[in-house]
Amino acid sequence: MSDGGLKFSSYSQGVLTSSSLPEDHEPEIISLRPTSLAEYIGQPDTIEAIEIAIKAAQMRKEPLDHVLFHGPPGLGKTTLAHIIANEMGGKLVVTSGPALEKGGDLIGLLTHLEAGDVFFIDEIHRLPKTVEELLYPAMEDFSIDFIFDKGLHARSHRFRLKKFIMIGATTRVGLLSSPLRHRFGIFKNLDFYSIKDLEKIIRRSATILNLSLDSQGAAELSTRSRGTPRIANRLLKRVRDYAQVKCGGVISRKAVIDALALEGVDALGLTDLDRSYLRTIITYYKGGPVGIEAVAATLQEETDTLVDVVEPYLLKIGLIMRTSSGRKASAEAFSHLGIEPVSVS
Ligand code: ADE
Repeated sequence: MSDGGLKFSSYSQGVLTSSSLPEDHEPEIISLRPTSLAEYIGQPDTIEAIEIAIKAAQMRKEPLDHVLFHGPPGLGKTTLAHIIANEMGGKLVVTSGPALEKGGDLIGLLTHLEAGDVFFIDEIHRLPKTVEELLYPAMEDFSIDFIFDKGLHARSHRFRLKKFIMIGATTRVGLLSSPLRHRFGIFKNLDFYSIKDLEKIIRRSATILNLSLDSQGAAELSTRSRGTPRIANRLLKRVRDYAQVKCGGVISRKAVIDALALEGVDALGLTDLDRSYLRTIITYYKGGPVGIEAVAATLQEETDTLVDVVEPYLLKIGLIMRTSSGRKASAEAFSHLGIEPVSVS
């Protein structure tokens, strides 16, 4: 099974430098990440399906089918790519849709892959069309077509690739073209984690970080983590600091509540941005329905941030609804903000 670490991990040349690693690839986060399927907590259906697919591929001595993960940020898409590379014994090459600007960027990475390597494209919905089209034969036949010259003199040369495993991750599966979507044999949606699973993840992280966490502290932190392991681990570190300075190092329920008050994280795990978003719909647009562009303009936020980061959890816990005429705040959203629900129809 896993050797506990990756054989080799590479960021595409000049694309992700060590000074600009996204949160997903920060070494400290990686140290809290599970490195094998056996260690993974939550997403039982996805984990079982991947376990079976890996075992079957190994028995047949074939590469794993290409895998597409979709779902909100922080739920484990990148972690699972690391784990699959680990379990399959290949190296992991990481890049992202917007980093692959030209066909040459993709060709440079693909031609260096060995059989069984995992090629991970994060934010695959942001891949330029010309690059996406090169990926089709690479995924289907493990080959790419180089075109030399133009017009009358154009010649093409087919280059054979090693049998790699492609893993794509996206927060917006609806933006993926259907030819690309259909080239993935395994298609898994990652949903928010249950409070129980988050509590297990927090306990595991506390053990790794050697923290003293009591059961009420763990329970409180898990209800305030927005169903998201990455948030749970980040908040655990803030609470650790607070407990160390103010509570003699013990993370109790009170330490969690007081530390998270300083972070602007409320009893439901909502942040300042979540509450501003709700308040905008409720007070500015009388509870909605209102179009997302109008909310983004009022908040002076990127629409993508609201759609990818803010809305999925608010929808999940029923504080907003998405209707054909726009977003609406629910009665629970009014009451969470302490506003009289006047005109929710
Ligand atoms: N750390 C972050 N996500 C995790 C998960 N799903 N299982 C165990 N530890 C984790």
